[in-house]
Amino acid sequence: MTTIEEPIATSAGISFSLTDEQRELRRLARDFAEKEIRAKAAEYDEHSTHPVDVIAKAHEVGLMNPHLPEEYGGLGLRTFDGMLIGEELAWGCSGIATAIVANTLGAAPVMLAGNDEQKRRWLPPLVESPILCAFGLTEPNAGSDVSGIQTTAVLDGDEYVINGSKMFITNAGHADWLVVFASTDKSKGHRGLSAFVVPTESNGVVVEKHLDKMGQRSTDTSAMAFGDVRVPAENLLGEEGEGFKIAMRTLDFTRPGTAAGAVGVAQAAFEYAVEYAKTRVQFGQPIAMNQGVNFLVADMATEIEAARLLVWQAAWLLDQGRRATLQSSFAKRFAADTAMKVTTDAVQIFGGYGYMKEYPVEKLMRDAKLFQIYEGTSQIQRLVIAREIFLPRSYGAAASVPRDE
Ligand code: CAA
Repeated sequence: MTTIEEPIATSAGISFSLTDEQRELRRLARDFAEKEIRAKAAEYDEHSTHPVDVIAKAHEVGLMNPHLPEEYGGLGLRTFDGMLIGEELAWGCSGIATAIVANTLGAAPVMLAGNDEQKRRWLPPLVESPILCAFGLTEPNAGSDVSGIQTTAVLDGDEYVINGSKMFITNAGHADWLVVFASTDKSKGHRGLSAFVVPTESNGVVVEKHLDKMGQRSTDTSAMAFGDVRVPAENLLGEEGEGFKIAMRTLDFTRPGTAAGAVGVAQAAFEYAVEYAKTRVQFGQPIAMNQGVNFLVADMATEIEAARLLVWQAAWLLDQGRRATLQSSFAKRFAADTAMKVTTDAVQIFGGYGYMKEYPVEKLMRDAKLFQIYEGTSQIQRLVIAREIFLPRSYGAAASVPRDE
């Protein structure tokens, strides 16, 4: 399939060509996905294994934490470059990939809202060794409705005391620290939410259970409880009451990356389906000769390309330091729904074999479903899109990570 990777000469100020460095980065990620991720995907999926070995290797070759700024020891890659990595890793296995890229979500609130001291404390260790961090937003009764968060943080001297519970927290069971969103003033609703960095070794932090998921099974997803957890007041990110906006800005920044993962899953399913259609003979000819299959494959290819373009557009906007709320939700909504549709159609092309665990598309279809749910459901993305259309607002600071250039 011809893709937008090929350089297109333009004089109109828009170019879809990748630089040599970006091509090299994508090749590195594809090779890694092929050799280190795909080789383990089925086994880790079956046993819901936390991919600690793959995480360590990804860290070693520079495929983790791509956006950490150089001044804090990181690679300082652009948001766009992270999309190239994210797509390829998820092409290998989105369960293992999510375990690797979830550090971007965990670290983003610190990058976007932390002061220099907080960044120096929490970011360099992520570069030095393959430690994990997490994003503690969702609760048992507050998923789509972030303003419904019940966890509280009460200032007591120079410490905050945190009580509550969190749900569906990626990598919770393996993270060294996480950003916990909690209410410091319930009377203020969403304007009373605040964000704190909480080391998981703190007294009172309990990882309650590893949840048994349908897909992306090699990413740990756990429930957590916080009982009188004390953190220094200096662990507050930004000001009290800024937590909701920090969460929204984080999601504006990370949703394109999640969408890139969905594109990777769709691309993998597409490639398997095309190969199968060329070799599976029915009625005396490969099923690829049938118009019914042609139409499925043509729609897959078109929608994958459109999803990739939306991802690239959102990342490009973020790299310009511009707000990308609308485009991030475009990308997340369309790529997630595309991954679900493409993987479902890939199973269809494989027929009975596609439904069997022995063939790879069954796993891809299970994995795809989660993209329509985490980091905001496809319905929440539509809500954000509709609000941007009917109630466009200025949110102040953009979600992009500040850079020196
Ligand atoms: N950037 C900055 N500020 C924003 C913003 C944005 N993108 N979106 C909203 N705001 C501001 C608004 O301007 C408003 O400000 P004021 O208080 O000054 O008026 C304030 O935030 C409240 O905005 P809304 O009225 O729009 O808030 P709402 O309660 O109606 O909710 C929502 C909006 C879009 C539905 C939001 O709650 C949302 O995104 N929900 C989905 C949550 C989500 O994605 N969860 C996923 C968890 S993470 C995860 O899944 C990862 C994992 O571990 C796998």
